[in-house]
Amino acid sequence: MADTAEFIKDLCTPAFVVDLDVAKRNAAVMLDRFQKLGVQLRPHMKTHKTLECADIMTGGSRRCIVVSTLAEASFYADHGYDDVLYAYPLPRDKVQRCAELCERMALFHVLLDNGPALQELKRRPLKQGKLWRVWMKLDCDNGRAGVLHSEPAALQLAREISETTGVELYGIYAHCGNTYGCKGREQIEAIAQETTTNLLQFMERLKAIGIQGLKSSIGSTPSCSHPVPDMAMLSEVHPGNYVFYDVQQSLIGSCRLEDVAVRVLTRVIGHYPHRNQLLVDSGWAALSQDGGGCLPTGYAVIQGHPELKLTSMTQEHGRVEPVSGPLDFGQFPLGSMFSLIPYHACATAMMYPVYSVHSQGKIVSTWKPVRGW
Ligand SMILES: Cc1ncc(COP(=O)(O)O)c(C=O)c1O
Repeated sequence: MADTAEFIKDLCTPAFVVDLDVAKRNAAVMLDRFQKLGVQLRPHMKTHKTLECADIMTGGSRRCIVVSTLAEASFYADHGYDDVLYAYPLPRDKVQRCAELCERMALFHVLLDNGPALQELKRRPLKQGKLWRVWMKLDCDNGRAGVLHSEPAALQLAREISETTGVELYGIYAHCGNTYGCKGREQIEAIAQETTTNLLQFMERLKAIGIQGLKSSIGSTPSCSHPVPDMAMLSEVHPGNYVFYDVQQSLIGSCRLEDVAVRVLTRVIGHYPHRNQLLVDSGWAALSQDGGGCLPTGYAVIQGHPELKLTSMTQEHGRVEPVSGPLDFGQFPLGSMFSLIPYHACATAMMYPVYSVHSQGKIVSTWKPVRGW
């Protein structure tokens, strides 16, 4: 994005802006990649939570998505989406809302990783003879949610789900969030391979006890940006962040910095020569604290200014100083703008009630994300 684009001058800052052409390109690359591999792409909506970006990621089908909240599920259902997977360990307080979504949509899926959650489903049979469509969450060494793939308890839970009346065991879902600890393609591919192998071996063990015909899904933006050939044996993948990408993904090796579709625009609001610092109108309420300022340039990359660092933030203020040496204040008059490339696009997007979307140097749209749980 050109820092000097006309449209940015009129924007009230801090502003979250999306380069439509870059987002479309990222989405098209992922769609094409998995179409060629013969694997269904079920994109995750958590990064942007908007209708417009969902349409881009699904290629306009309005089918086959993952959500992380029921607010997202209802929002997409209201806009004619179907085949929606709520990929979050089923919380007891949300069973009734999930039941209503199952009864309202042709295909609404839930996910669980424990027996008590299964009992909750049993206690709330669906109307019209519908079955709860359930994915079991498998932990393939990511170490967050899921039954550990190597534990006998995993096969046992799968068997329990498949034998429960009113419920259909539909698929096995493993998330390889451990790719976020990788540096470079080789490490990403190693985790993608390990997760795929663990999941496929688990599917074989299921077959051996008579449970077959299930879907299998892994994914994260790093692993789906560099898929290994064995991923072609999976039914689905579920990345989400790739439509925006961010500085973190570029450091992991999922993308180039040029592939990052989003920016935070911010203005210089103060000069403090006695401490060699500028003040900008973006604090953690505009960027989030994600990353903890770990970059050599602090909390974000300041586009076109590798010599500057966003060194600290309070809620609405950010302090900018040179990486080294004295600051040339004349170069950054009050009111001048910086374009910040966020460390983590999902966390930064969460801070905004509206995104300004641009193409070819003009604002072409505003997107309103859904919020809440
Ligand atoms: C359960 C689950 N599935 C899919 C995704 C999408 O992965 P990514 O953000 O790496 O694209 C996430 C992201 O956190 C997730 O938690």
